[in-house]
Amino acid sequence: MKVLVATDKPFAKVAVDGIRKEIEAAGYELVLLEKYGEKAKLLEAVKDVEAIIIRSDIIDAEVLDAAQKLKIVVRAGAGYDNVDLEAATAHNVCVMNTPGQNSNAVAELAFGLMVMAVRNMYNGTSGTELMGKKLGIHAYGNVGRNVARIAKGFGMDIYAFDAFCPKEVIEKDGVKAVASAEELYSICDVISLHIPATAETKNSINHALVNRMPKGGLLVNTARKEVINEAELIQLLEERGDLKYVTDIMPAANETFASRFAGRYFSTPKKMGAQTAEANINAGIAAACQIVGFLKDGCEKFRVNK
Ligand code: 3PG
Repeated sequence: MKVLVATDKPFAKVAVDGIRKEIEAAGYELVLLEKYGEKAKLLEAVKDVEAIIIRSDIIDAEVLDAAQKLKIVVRAGAGYDNVDLEAATAHNVCVMNTPGQNSNAVAELAFGLMVMAVRNMYNGTSGTELMGKKLGIHAYGNVGRNVARIAKGFGMDIYAFDAFCPKEVIEKDGVKAVASAEELYSICDVISLHIPATAETKNSINHALVNRMPKGGLLVNTARKEVINEAELIQLLEERGDLKYVTDIMPAANETFASRFAGRYFSTPKKMGAQTAEANINAGIAAACQIVGFLKDGCEKFRVNK
């Protein structure tokens, strides 16, 4: 059996070595397709494999059509909005993610972006500190929890809103749970976004919501670009010169943001949140083990297309 690792944004070599070890120990063959750029190369590579490990790589109906022997796709990471779940189910392909495996890396990057923004993008002028500031964690999943843990070390006053996480779970961590996103944005100096991209959340971070933030508000996005209503955020940043936006997911309108809001806007060139050796090892090896467990024992833990 062949297991394809298809990563346009490659894992660290040490993680690929670990994945290979798991796959070969199970008696399977590992095929590596990195930095492939064009979809045609992916379509060719999936032809004779039973399993695929991906990151943000797009698995749509065309890829699934080309992958005649495919049984399982594991997204080595949390968000699986890059996989067409309906098409996968129709093709009888199991889809899994590896929740929690890269969340510390993403949470640490959120703070990297935060410090950069409050220190005025390191332009030499006096910035501010995070200590004592109100931090709003928008969605309290694996990354949100890590953000809360790190924020305690910074001495921040921590709030969270999560429509699906019980208040008691949030408050057990010493974080103040609020009843709505509106309330969170009205209270907090810094908002850290950790919502997935779903039909409900797409474009949900809009003018009305972000405009609730107090003077000097900072929006930090290490989640997905699709959740931002870019046109409305641009309009708001024009209206309010006090607001800042920093993101790990380059907006479609990056050039507009960069040219109009110099000093108040920053985007990493490529999504870097999960780009650490540790996260690559954790998520990559978890993906390999999940594939072996599925192919050998039919284990479907972490299946997302139930
Ligand atoms: C995730 O959903 O796990 C993160 O956004 C990381 O994505 P990446 O593996 O494409 O960097």
